[in-house]
Amino acid sequence: MATMQAVRRRTDMYNGNALKIGLFGANCSSGRSATKVPERWTASWPDCLRLAQLADDAGIDFMLPIARWKGYGGDTDFHGASLETITWATGLLASTSRITVFGTVHAPLFHPLIAAKALVTADHAGEGRLGVNLVVGWNEGEFEMFGVEQREHDARYDYAQEWLDTVLRAWREPGDFEVDGRFLKLKKVRAFPKPFGEGRPILMNAGSSPAGQAFALRNCDAFFTATAGSRTSLEGNTQRVADIKAKARAFGRDIEVYTVGQVVCRASQREADDYYRHAIVDNADWGAVERMMALRNITRETVSEEEYAAKRQYFAGNAIGGYPFVGTPDRVAQELAGLGTAGLRGIALSFVNYLDEVPFFCGEVLPRLARLGLREG
Ligand SMILES: Cc1cc2nc3c(=O)[nH]c(=O)nc-3n(C[C@H](O)[C@H](O)[C@H](O)COP(=O)(O)O)c2cc1C
Repeated sequence: MATMQAVRRRTDMYNGNALKIGLFGANCSSGRSATKVPERWTASWPDCLRLAQLADDAGIDFMLPIARWKGYGGDTDFHGASLETITWATGLLASTSRITVFGTVHAPLFHPLIAAKALVTADHAGEGRLGVNLVVGWNEGEFEMFGVEQREHDARYDYAQEWLDTVLRAWREPGDFEVDGRFLKLKKVRAFPKPFGEGRPILMNAGSSPAGQAFALRNCDAFFTATAGSRTSLEGNTQRVADIKAKARAFGRDIEVYTVGQVVCRASQREADDYYRHAIVDNADWGAVERMMALRNITRETVSEEEYAAKRQYFAGNAIGGYPFVGTPDRVAQELAGLGTAGLRGIALSFVNYLDEVPFFCGEVLPRLARLGLREG
């Protein structure tokens, strides 16, 4: 409990904003939009840096990258270029003053002691503003290129538990220690410095399977779910958030629940609808969309023709970027406010081109959320 309190004192993830707003996926080319429009996000370092500084000044609470090692193909090679997330976070933390920046680690690909030290380095660069997203991986093609074989699904989380316990000890143990686990056997381990100031970086996970969710509830401060976020089922969201929080309490943990979404916000509803259709549907990179579906075993061979067509639309418009918030500042603010009412603590948002669109969003939507009582003014 003392550690959780110290975690809460050190980051903007626990500031007075009832609904935290983050930016998701800006380290990857095309962000979270599998689109061919020429203005799509390139994820270049200068653009990421400008975006982080703008977000830091405008009151955005956090930035969450995606750890991705290989593109999904298609005409644009969606996510073909991505900046490594801990390095990215370190640079951004050193160049900002308030915002929380996450680094995302694939436990099976990073030795825990290298990860522990890289994360501490980022945390010192940000004077305690680093967040950590621990993932076990789901995309087989990525592991193949490392020569690493993925464990059976639930065993990935067994390994992640030992991995995380080791990282937490490296951050805490005042002297040498040994790890004698099922997977890790480490002798005379020594790790300095410790994380910045008191406590440790905030930990998040977004597992969706029962094993993944149990891992998050046992270990993490924040749980991200891609399936909450729809304005059409406020009741469903409220129930889901309450269930997750109750399950976490059974582990003695007070977990915060977040979700993800994409935003197309324009002065008029018509403009927003037109741009969403133009960028996300009419100019979808269908090759990349279909590849992402195939990774989830949805192909023309595994489902009927109608189901395939429906899923294809759903993946392009909703599943890849998350629930679309499309409309005027009033409408987007109302819909986001609905998530706060459902008990969600925050949302990580993506934009087709973050630098072009985030200033309008911050100037118009954040003040409305403040007026609706969800954020400090
Ligand atoms: C907000 C969010 C961020 C995620 N970030 C990553 C990531 O950076 N890299 C990755 O391989 N998977 C990422 N995932 C996938 C999850 O970690 C997880 O593997 C996936 O939801 C499947 O759940 P499972 O592992 O319980 O089967 C993310 C998911 C969400 C919703």
